[in-house]
Amino acid sequence: MAAIIVKWILLTLFFVINNPKLLIQSQEQVPCSFFFGDSQFDNGNNNFLLTTAKANYPPYGIDYPNGTATGRFSNGRNIADFLAQFLGFDKPIPPFATASGSEILKGVNYASGSAGIRDESGNNLGDRISMNRQLINHGITVSRIALLLRSTTINDYLSKCLYTINIGTNDYLNNYLMPRLYPTSVLFTPDQFAEVLIQQFSLQLTTLYSLGARKVAVFGLGLLGCLPEELARFPTNGSPCVDSINNDVSLFNNRLRPLIDNLNNNLPDARFIFINITSISLAGPQPIGITVVNAPCCIVSSDGQCARNQVPCNNRNQYVFFDNFHPTENLNLAMALRAYNAALPSDAYPIDIRRLVQQ
Ligand SMILES: *[C@@H]1O[C@H](CO)[C@@H](O)[C@H](O)[C@H]1NC(C)=O
Ligand SMILES: *[C@@H]1O[C@H](CO)[C@@H](O)[C@H](O)[C@H]1NC(C)=O
Repeated sequence: MAAIIVKWILLTLFFVINNPKLLIQSQEQVPCSFFFGDSQFDNGNNNFLLTTAKANYPPYGIDYPNGTATGRFSNGRNIADFLAQFLGFDKPIPPFATASGSEILKGVNYASGSAGIRDESGNNLGDRISMNRQLINHGITVSRIALLLRSTTINDYLSKCLYTINIGTNDYLNNYLMPRLYPTSVLFTPDQFAEVLIQQFSLQLTTLYSLGARKVAVFGLGLLGCLPEELARFPTNGSPCVDSINNDVSLFNNRLRPLIDNLNNNLPDARFIFINITSISLAGPQPIGITVVNAPCCIVSSDGQCARNQVPCNNRNQYVFFDNFHPTENLNLAMALRAYNAALPSDAYPIDIRRLVQQ
Protein backbone atom coordinates (compact mmCIF):
# COMPACT_ATOMS: atom_id res chain seq x y z
CA MET A 1 0.00 0.00 0.00
CA ALA A 2 2.75 2.46 0.96
CA ALA A 3 4.57 2.02 -2.31
CA ILE A 4 1.32 2.25 -4.18
CA ILE A 5 0.26 5.51 -2.58
CA VAL A 6 3.71 6.98 -2.96
CA LYS A 7 3.61 6.14 -6.66
CA TRP A 8 0.31 7.86 -6.87
CA ILE A 9 1.66 11.06 -5.33
CA LEU A 10 4.53 11.18 -7.76
CA LEU A 11 2.25 10.70 -10.70
CA THR A 12 0.17 13.59 -9.45
CA LEU A 13 3.13 15.87 -8.91
CA PHE A 14 4.41 15.01 -12.35
CA PHE A 15 1.05 15.99 -13.62
CA VAL A 16 0.91 19.38 -11.90
CA ILE A 17 4.39 20.24 -13.11
CA ASN A 18 3.42 19.43 -16.66
CA ASN A 19 0.15 21.33 -16.50
CA PRO A 20 0.97 24.71 -14.95
CA LYS A 21 -2.19 26.20 -16.40
CA LEU A 22 -4.29 23.75 -14.39
CA LEU A 23 -3.99 25.77 -11.22
CA ILE A 24 -4.63 29.19 -12.70
CA GLN A 25 -7.82 29.57 -14.69
CA SER A 26 -8.90 33.04 -15.56
CA GLN A 27 -12.43 32.26 -16.66
CA GLU A 28 -15.19 30.05 -15.27
CA GLN A 29 -15.69 27.00 -17.48
CA VAL A 30 -19.27 26.43 -16.32
CA PRO A 31 -21.90 28.90 -15.08
CA CYS A 32 -22.40 26.92 -11.89
CA SER A 33 -21.09 23.93 -9.99
CA PHE A 34 -23.10 21.86 -7.50
CA PHE A 35 -21.65 19.37 -5.02
CA PHE A 36 -23.44 16.49 -3.31
CA GLY A 37 -21.94 13.99 -0.92
CA ASP A 38 -20.49 13.31 2.50
CA SER A 39 -17.62 14.61 4.64
CA GLN A 40 -15.24 14.41 1.69
CA PHE A 41 -17.09 17.40 0.17
CA ASP A 42 -18.83 18.99 3.21
CA ASN A 43 -17.68 22.60 3.64
CA GLY A 44 -19.84 23.71 6.52
CA ASN A 45 -23.30 22.15 6.32
CA ASN A 46 -22.82 19.95 9.38
CA ASN A 47 -21.83 22.95 11.51
CA PHE A 48 -25.54 23.56 11.93
CA LEU A 49 -26.55 19.98 12.79
CA LEU A 50 -26.74 18.03 16.03
CA THR A 51 -24.03 15.48 15.25
CA THR A 52 -20.55 14.43 16.29
CA ALA A 53 -19.58 14.41 12.59
CA LYS A 54 -18.28 17.97 12.68
CA ALA A 55 -14.95 19.55 11.82
CA ASN A 56 -15.49 23.16 12.90
CA TYR A 57 -12.77 23.21 15.53
CA PRO A 58 -8.95 23.16 15.46
CA PRO A 59 -6.83 21.47 14.29
CA TYR A 60 -9.17 21.09 11.26
CA GLY A 61 -8.51 23.97 8.90
CA ILE A 62 -5.00 24.65 10.20
CA ASP A 63 -3.79 25.08 6.58
CA TYR A 64 -6.95 26.76 5.32
CA PRO A 65 -6.62 30.52 4.64
CA ASN A 66 -6.24 32.23 8.03
CA GLY A 67 -6.06 28.82 9.68
CA THR A 68 -9.84 28.78 10.02
CA ALA A 69 -11.82 25.68 11.00
CA THR A 70 -14.70 25.99 8.54
CA GLY A 71 -16.26 22.56 8.87
CA ARG A 72 -14.07 21.00 6.18
CA PHE A 73 -12.85 17.56 7.28
CA SER A 74 -9.20 18.20 6.47
CA ASN A 75 -6.26 20.40 7.40
CA GLY A 76 -7.01 22.59 4.37
CA ARG A 77 -9.04 22.57 1.19
CA ASN A 78 -11.14 19.58 0.14
CA ILE A 79 -11.80 18.02 -3.27
CA ALA A 80 -14.78 20.29 -3.92
CA ASP A 81 -12.61 23.36 -3.28
CA PHE A 82 -9.94 22.20 -5.70
CA LEU A 83 -12.44 21.28 -8.40
CA ALA A 84 -14.07 24.71 -8.11
CA GLN A 85 -10.60 26.24 -8.44
CA PHE A 86 -9.78 24.17 -11.57
CA LEU A 87 -13.13 25.19 -13.06
CA GLY A 88 -12.07 28.82 -12.70
CA PHE A 89 -14.19 29.95 -9.75
CA ASP A 90 -12.39 32.55 -7.66
CA LYS A 91 -14.17 31.54 -4.44
CA PRO A 92 -15.28 28.20 -2.96
CA ILE A 93 -18.86 27.14 -3.75
CA PRO A 94 -20.88 28.08 -0.62
CA PRO A 95 -22.55 25.47 1.62
CA PHE A 96 -26.33 25.22 1.28
CA ALA A 97 -26.64 26.08 4.98
CA THR A 98 -25.35 29.62 4.43
CA ALA A 99 -25.66 30.28 0.67
CA SER A 100 -27.80 33.33 0.04
CA GLY A 101 -28.94 35.80 -2.57
CA SER A 102 -27.52 35.67 -6.06
CA GLU A 103 -24.41 33.70 -5.02
CA ILE A 104 -26.42 30.49 -5.58
CA LEU A 105 -26.24 31.26 -9.32
CA LYS A 106 -22.65 29.96 -9.22
CA GLY A 107 -23.63 26.79 -7.40
CA VAL A 108 -24.21 25.32 -3.96
CA ASN A 109 -22.50 22.61 -1.90
CA TYR A 110 -25.06 20.28 -0.23
CA ALA A 111 -22.61 17.71 1.15
CA SER A 112 -22.98 16.53 4.73
CA GLY A 113 -20.57 14.54 6.87
CA SER A 114 -21.81 10.99 7.66
CA ALA A 115 -24.55 11.15 4.99
CA GLY A 116 -25.25 8.19 2.73
CA ILE A 117 -27.30 6.93 -0.17
CA ARG A 118 -29.54 5.30 2.42
CA ASP A 119 -31.37 7.62 4.80
CA GLU A 120 -30.38 5.76 7.96
CA SER A 121 -26.63 5.65 7.24
CA GLY A 122 -24.64 7.77 9.71
CA ASN A 123 -27.45 7.83 12.28
CA ASN A 124 -24.96 6.53 14.87
CA LEU A 125 -23.22 9.94 14.76
CA GLY A 126 -26.34 12.13 14.85
CA ASP A 127 -28.17 14.22 12.29
CA ARG A 128 -26.97 14.40 8.69
CA ILE A 129 -28.36 15.45 5.33
CA SER A 130 -28.84 12.20 3.42
CA MET A 131 -28.59 12.11 -0.37
CA ASN A 132 -32.39 12.19 -0.56
CA ARG A 133 -32.50 15.33 1.59
CA GLN A 134 -29.69 16.91 -0.45
CA LEU A 135 -31.83 16.46 -3.55
CA ILE A 136 -34.76 18.14 -1.79
CA ASN A 137 -32.44 21.04 -0.93
CA HIS A 138 -31.36 21.20 -4.56
CA GLY A 139 -35.02 21.47 -5.57
CA ILE A 140 -35.23 24.54 -3.30
CA THR A 141 -32.14 26.02 -4.97
CA VAL A 142 -33.59 25.41 -8.44
CA SER A 143 -36.77 27.29 -7.44
CA ARG A 144 -34.65 30.16 -6.14
CA ILE A 145 -32.60 30.27 -9.32
CA ALA A 146 -35.82 30.29 -11.35
CA LEU A 147 -36.83 33.45 -9.48
CA LEU A 148 -33.44 35.05 -10.09
CA LEU A 149 -33.37 34.21 -13.83
CA ARG A 150 -36.07 34.45 -16.45
CA SER A 151 -37.82 31.09 -16.06
CA THR A 152 -37.58 30.40 -19.81
CA THR A 153 -33.80 30.19 -19.61
CA ILE A 154 -33.40 28.13 -16.46
CA ASN A 155 -33.25 24.71 -18.12
CA ASP A 156 -30.59 25.91 -20.50
CA TYR A 157 -28.65 27.44 -17.60
CA LEU A 158 -28.82 24.34 -15.39
CA SER A 159 -27.87 22.04 -18.27
CA LYS A 160 -24.51 23.83 -18.65
CA CYS A 161 -23.55 23.43 -14.99
CA LEU A 162 -21.42 20.70 -13.46
CA TYR A 163 -22.84 18.38 -10.79
CA THR A 164 -20.33 16.34 -8.77
CA ILE A 165 -21.37 13.57 -6.40
CA ASN A 166 -19.32 11.62 -3.88
CA ILE A 167 -21.57 9.42 -1.74
CA GLY A 168 -21.76 5.83 -0.52
CA THR A 169 -18.79 5.65 1.86
CA ASN A 170 -21.04 5.95 4.92
CA ASP A 171 -23.40 3.25 3.67
CA TYR A 172 -20.42 1.00 4.41
CA LEU A 173 -18.50 2.68 7.27
CA ASN A 174 -21.51 3.92 9.22
CA ASN A 175 -24.01 1.22 8.32
CA TYR A 176 -23.06 -2.12 6.74
CA LEU A 177 -19.81 -2.44 8.72
CA MET A 178 -21.56 -1.74 12.04
CA PRO A 179 -23.58 -4.93 12.56
CA ARG A 180 -24.46 -4.11 16.16
CA LEU A 181 -26.19 -0.89 15.15
CA TYR A 182 -27.59 -1.65 11.69
CA PRO A 183 -29.34 -4.79 10.38
CA THR A 184 -28.13 -4.44 6.77
CA SER A 185 -25.36 -7.04 7.03
CA VAL A 186 -27.92 -9.58 8.24
CA LEU A 187 -30.47 -8.64 5.60
CA PHE A 188 -28.09 -8.54 2.62
CA THR A 189 -24.98 -10.32 1.39
CA PRO A 190 -22.23 -7.89 0.28
CA ASP A 191 -23.32 -8.43 -3.32
CA GLN A 192 -27.00 -7.82 -2.54
CA PHE A 193 -26.14 -4.71 -0.52
CA ALA A 194 -24.13 -3.28 -3.42
CA GLU A 195 -27.09 -3.93 -5.70
CA VAL A 196 -29.59 -2.30 -3.31
CA LEU A 197 -27.34 0.76 -3.03
CA ILE A 198 -26.96 1.01 -6.79
CA GLN A 199 -30.72 0.80 -7.37
CA GLN A 200 -31.37 3.62 -4.92
CA PHE A 201 -28.46 5.66 -6.31
CA SER A 202 -29.86 5.20 -9.81
CA LEU A 203 -33.18 6.73 -8.70
CA GLN A 204 -31.33 9.60 -7.02
CA LEU A 205 -29.26 10.36 -10.11
CA THR A 206 -32.41 10.25 -12.21
CA THR A 207 -34.03 12.76 -9.82
CA LEU A 208 -31.00 15.00 -10.25
CA TYR A 209 -31.45 14.75 -14.04
CA SER A 210 -35.13 15.66 -13.68
CA LEU A 211 -34.02 18.80 -11.79
CA GLY A 212 -32.08 19.90 -14.87
CA ALA A 213 -28.66 18.29 -14.44
CA ARG A 214 -26.99 17.09 -17.65
CA LYS A 215 -23.24 17.09 -16.87
CA VAL A 216 -22.74 14.86 -13.87
CA ALA A 217 -19.49 13.48 -12.42
CA VAL A 218 -20.00 10.52 -10.08
CA PHE A 219 -17.13 9.51 -7.80
CA GLY A 220 -16.67 5.83 -6.97
CA LEU A 221 -15.67 4.78 -3.48
CA GLY A 222 -12.06 4.64 -2.31
CA LEU A 223 -10.12 1.84 -0.63
CA LEU A 224 -12.08 2.02 2.62
CA GLY A 225 -10.29 -1.03 3.99
CA CYS A 226 -7.08 1.04 4.10
CA LEU A 227 -8.47 3.81 6.36
CA PRO A 228 -6.63 4.00 9.73
CA GLU A 229 -9.99 3.65 11.51
CA GLU A 230 -10.76 0.33 9.82
CA LEU A 231 -7.19 -0.89 10.38
CA ALA A 232 -7.80 -0.25 14.09
CA ARG A 233 -11.22 -1.91 14.13
CA PHE A 234 -10.71 -5.04 12.04
CA PRO A 235 -7.98 -7.68 11.75
CA THR A 236 -5.89 -7.44 8.58
CA ASN A 237 -4.33 -10.93 8.69
CA GLY A 238 -0.98 -9.53 7.60
CA SER A 239 -2.31 -7.49 4.69
CA PRO A 240 -1.68 -3.70 4.69
CA CYS A 241 -5.46 -3.17 4.42
CA VAL A 242 -8.67 -4.91 5.50
CA ASP A 243 -9.12 -6.78 2.23
CA SER A 244 -12.67 -7.94 2.96
CA ILE A 245 -13.82 -4.31 3.17
CA ASN A 246 -12.10 -3.39 -0.10
CA ASN A 247 -13.71 -6.43 -1.71
CA ASP A 248 -17.20 -5.47 -0.48
CA VAL A 249 -16.77 -1.91 -1.72
CA SER A 250 -15.53 -3.06 -5.13
CA LEU A 251 -18.88 -4.81 -5.64
CA PHE A 252 -20.47 -1.36 -5.51
CA ASN A 253 -17.79 0.30 -7.66
CA ASN A 254 -18.05 -2.38 -10.34
CA ARG A 255 -21.74 -1.63 -10.74
CA LEU A 256 -21.20 2.10 -11.11
CA ARG A 257 -19.77 2.03 -14.61
CA PRO A 258 -22.73 0.06 -16.06
CA LEU A 259 -25.02 2.45 -14.18
CA ILE A 260 -23.34 5.41 -15.89
CA ASP A 261 -23.82 3.71 -19.28
CA ASN A 262 -27.48 3.06 -18.52
CA LEU A 263 -28.19 6.65 -17.55
CA ASN A 264 -26.42 7.99 -20.64
CA ASN A 265 -28.34 5.59 -22.88
CA ASN A 266 -31.75 6.20 -21.35
CA LEU A 267 -31.84 9.89 -20.45
CA PRO A 268 -31.75 12.29 -23.45
CA ASP A 269 -28.72 14.63 -23.48
CA ALA A 270 -27.38 13.15 -20.24
CA ARG A 271 -23.60 13.11 -19.86
CA PHE A 272 -22.73 11.18 -16.75
CA ILE A 273 -19.11 10.26 -16.06
CA PHE A 274 -17.52 7.92 -13.52
CA ILE A 275 -14.43 8.90 -11.51
CA ASN A 276 -12.49 5.75 -10.57
CA ILE A 277 -10.90 6.55 -7.21
CA THR A 278 -9.45 3.04 -7.09
CA SER A 279 -7.52 3.71 -10.29
CA ILE A 280 -6.44 7.11 -8.97
CA SER A 281 -5.26 5.44 -5.73
CA LEU A 282 -3.45 2.50 -7.26
CA ALA A 283 -1.48 3.29 -10.34
CA GLY A 284 1.35 5.55 -11.43
CA PRO A 285 5.09 5.87 -12.14
CA GLN A 286 7.96 6.29 -9.65
CA PRO A 287 7.59 8.14 -6.37
CA ILE A 288 8.62 10.78 -3.81
CA GLY A 289 6.95 12.71 -0.96
CA ILE A 290 4.35 10.94 1.12
CA THR A 291 5.80 8.63 3.74
CA VAL A 292 2.96 7.96 6.19
CA VAL A 293 0.05 6.02 4.71
CA ASN A 294 -1.56 4.17 7.61
CA ALA A 295 -1.65 6.62 10.53
CA PRO A 296 -3.40 9.97 11.05
CA CYS A 297 -1.55 13.29 11.30
CA CYS A 298 -3.69 14.65 14.14
CA ILE A 299 -4.27 13.14 17.57
CA VAL A 300 -7.57 11.33 17.20
CA SER A 301 -10.21 10.76 19.86
CA SER A 302 -12.11 7.48 20.28
CA ASP A 303 -14.41 8.27 17.32
CA GLY A 304 -11.46 8.55 14.92
CA GLN A 305 -11.83 12.31 14.39
CA CYS A 306 -9.23 14.84 15.52
CA ALA A 307 -9.35 15.58 19.24
CA ARG A 308 -10.13 19.24 19.90
CA ASN A 309 -7.35 21.81 20.04
CA GLN A 310 -4.50 19.29 19.91
CA VAL A 311 -1.39 20.15 17.91
CA PRO A 312 -1.22 17.96 14.77
CA CYS A 313 1.92 16.69 13.03
CA ASN A 314 4.18 19.29 11.43
CA ASN A 315 4.94 17.42 8.23
CA ARG A 316 1.34 17.32 7.04
CA ASN A 317 2.35 17.08 3.38
CA GLN A 318 3.90 13.69 4.10
CA TYR A 319 0.65 12.17 5.38
CA VAL A 320 -2.18 10.57 3.45
CA PHE A 321 -4.63 10.95 6.33
CA PHE A 322 -5.32 13.94 8.55
CA ASP A 323 -7.62 12.06 10.94
CA ASN A 324 -8.60 8.39 10.90
CA PHE A 325 -10.96 8.85 7.91
CA HIS A 326 -10.11 11.95 5.95
CA PRO A 327 -7.27 12.80 3.59
CA THR A 328 -4.91 15.73 4.04
CA GLU A 329 -5.17 18.73 1.74
CA ASN A 330 -2.29 17.33 -0.29
CA LEU A 331 -4.20 14.13 -1.03
CA ASN A 332 -7.36 16.06 -1.81
CA LEU A 333 -5.38 18.03 -4.38
CA ALA A 334 -4.04 14.80 -5.85
CA MET A 335 -7.49 13.25 -6.22
CA ALA A 336 -9.12 16.39 -7.55
CA LEU A 337 -6.38 16.81 -10.15
CA ARG A 338 -6.81 13.38 -11.64
CA ALA A 339 -10.60 13.58 -11.53
CA TYR A 340 -10.34 16.84 -13.45
CA ASN A 341 -7.55 15.79 -15.79
CA ALA A 342 -7.13 12.02 -15.93
CA ALA A 343 -3.53 10.80 -15.76
CA LEU A 344 -4.49 7.27 -16.80
CA PRO A 345 -7.34 6.13 -19.06
CA SER A 346 -8.82 4.21 -16.11
CA ASP A 347 -9.12 7.35 -13.93
CA ALA A 348 -12.32 8.59 -15.57
CA TYR A 349 -14.96 6.98 -17.77
CA PRO A 350 -15.81 7.73 -20.52
CA ILE A 351 -14.11 11.17 -20.15
CA ASP A 352 -12.68 13.30 -17.34
CA ILE A 353 -14.23 16.42 -15.82
CA ARG A 354 -12.14 18.80 -17.95
CA ARG A 355 -13.51 17.27 -21.15
CA LEU A 356 -17.02 16.97 -19.73
CA VAL A 357 -17.29 20.69 -19.09
CA GLN A 358 -15.92 21.51 -22.57
CA GLN A 359 -18.76 19.63 -24.29
C1 LIG B 1 -8.55 36.39 6.81
O1 LIG B 1 -8.57 37.36 7.82
C2 LIG B 1 -8.63 38.70 7.32
C3 LIG B 1 -8.49 39.65 8.50
O2 LIG B 1 -9.36 39.29 9.53
C4 LIG B 1 -9.94 38.87 6.57
O3 LIG B 1 -10.04 40.17 6.03
C5 LIG B 1 -9.99 37.86 5.43
O4 LIG B 1 -11.23 37.93 4.78
C6 LIG B 1 -9.80 36.46 5.96
N1 LIG B 1 -9.73 35.53 4.86
C7 LIG B 1 -10.43 34.40 4.83
C8 LIG B 1 -10.24 33.56 3.62
O5 LIG B 1 -11.16 34.04 5.73
C1 LIG C 1 -11.02 1.18 -11.73
O1 LIG C 1 -9.64 1.11 -11.92
C2 LIG C 1 -9.08 -0.10 -11.47
C3 LIG C 1 -7.57 0.04 -11.57
O2 LIG C 1 -7.18 0.42 -12.86
C4 LIG C 1 -9.63 -1.25 -12.31
O3 LIG C 1 -9.09 -2.46 -11.86
C5 LIG C 1 -11.14 -1.28 -12.15
O4 LIG C 1 -11.70 -2.23 -13.00
C6 LIG C 1 -11.74 0.08 -12.48
N1 LIG C 1 -13.14 0.05 -12.09
C7 LIG C 1 -14.11 0.31 -12.92
C8 LIG C 1 -15.48 0.17 -12.38
O5 LIG C 1 -13.91 0.68 -14.07
